[in-house]
Amino acid sequence: MAWSADKTEVKSWNEWDTLRHVIVGRADDCHIPPEEPALDAKVPEDSDMRGQWGRRPQETIDRANELLNNFATMLEKRGLRVDRPHSIDHSLPATTPDFHTDSQFGCMPPRDVLLTVGREMLEATMSYRCRWFEYLNYRPLMQQYFNEDPLFRHESAPKPRLTDADYHPDYLSEKIGVEKRLQWAAEKFFVTTEEEPLFDAADVLRFGRDLVVQHGFTTNLKGIEWLRRHFPDHRVHTVNFPGDPYPIHIDATFTPLRPGLILNNPQRRLPEDQRKMFETNDWEIVDAAQPAHNAPPPLCYSSTWLSMNVLVLDPKTVCVEASEVYQMEQMDKLGMNVIPVDLRDAYAFGGGLHCCTADVYRDGDCEDYFP
Ligand code: ARG
Repeated sequence: MAWSADKTEVKSWNEWDTLRHVIVGRADDCHIPPEEPALDAKVPEDSDMRGQWGRRPQETIDRANELLNNFATMLEKRGLRVDRPHSIDHSLPATTPDFHTDSQFGCMPPRDVLLTVGREMLEATMSYRCRWFEYLNYRPLMQQYFNEDPLFRHESAPKPRLTDADYHPDYLSEKIGVEKRLQWAAEKFFVTTEEEPLFDAADVLRFGRDLVVQHGFTTNLKGIEWLRRHFPDHRVHTVNFPGDPYPIHIDATFTPLRPGLILNNPQRRLPEDQRKMFETNDWEIVDAAQPAHNAPPPLCYSSTWLSMNVLVLDPKTVCVEASEVYQMEQMDKLGMNVIPVDLRDAYAFGGGLHCCTADVYRDGDCEDYFP
């Protein structure tokens, strides 16, 4: 049955079919959280964020919200339904019997927390203490979808304990150095241990029957095994990108655009032995264009490769950040219609156009692209 704006329906099987209904994050009350093991391992060693925490400056919150609101309005004008999270008070500490941290993170980016697979939306375990309660920002929407869509499955992965046993202390030293980090990444020695299943939703890409999951800082092998058991009708593939010294969240590294075509970060190429399923099915993996900037904006966790963090609206149409001229040019050459979207001043809040959204409904059904 065709999608109708009057009826809530949750369904999305991949990253590219026509998007009809989407969640766009908010910058409200976002915080730079205090130090904690997994977060520290991710903050680049030369970052301006080291050693400071607290609510983000109001003018940066206002500016990011302006851009996120404009993005949402543009999508609505194109006929999409756009929902927004309900910000909780992120200044509150997160405390459980197992850990305490003095503040939370924010309701950005939704892609990190919510994984939509078919008719299900799954709240990820998360792997940072400051993000343990982040699902609460989306609960009003989950309740609404549950009330309105009789086939919606609202799921939550087992909440992790996040004691010190979840983190390798080797990653806690101030100066590790990029050489050492790259060596550790190549050895698949990441900050998270195998104490319990951990995953962030943004480490997962959906290709119909196949889920491709990045093993790195925020997702461990037990988390991937948990996903495998949770989605018994899917094939779950583990991937690594050894060129990334801070491997979290797959969407600035590996970006499917349409059936048969994936952009790969040229500094983080998928190793040969992991390419087989794509090659034998004639999928092309092309190097993404260079970012237009040589440094991320202030107080930003991510790298300049948010250039390739694009939102595909349908297999011919893609939203690209408006200053990323090389990425837009490449999309054009690949036969995509490009919608430039101004978002760079919101990057500091956790990511780009793919990160700051979460799928609710895309056309299409569960297909097998790798038979
Ligand atoms: N790790 C990526 C980079 O810095 C950023 C990924 C952001 N993605 C997200 N869903 N928050 O290159």
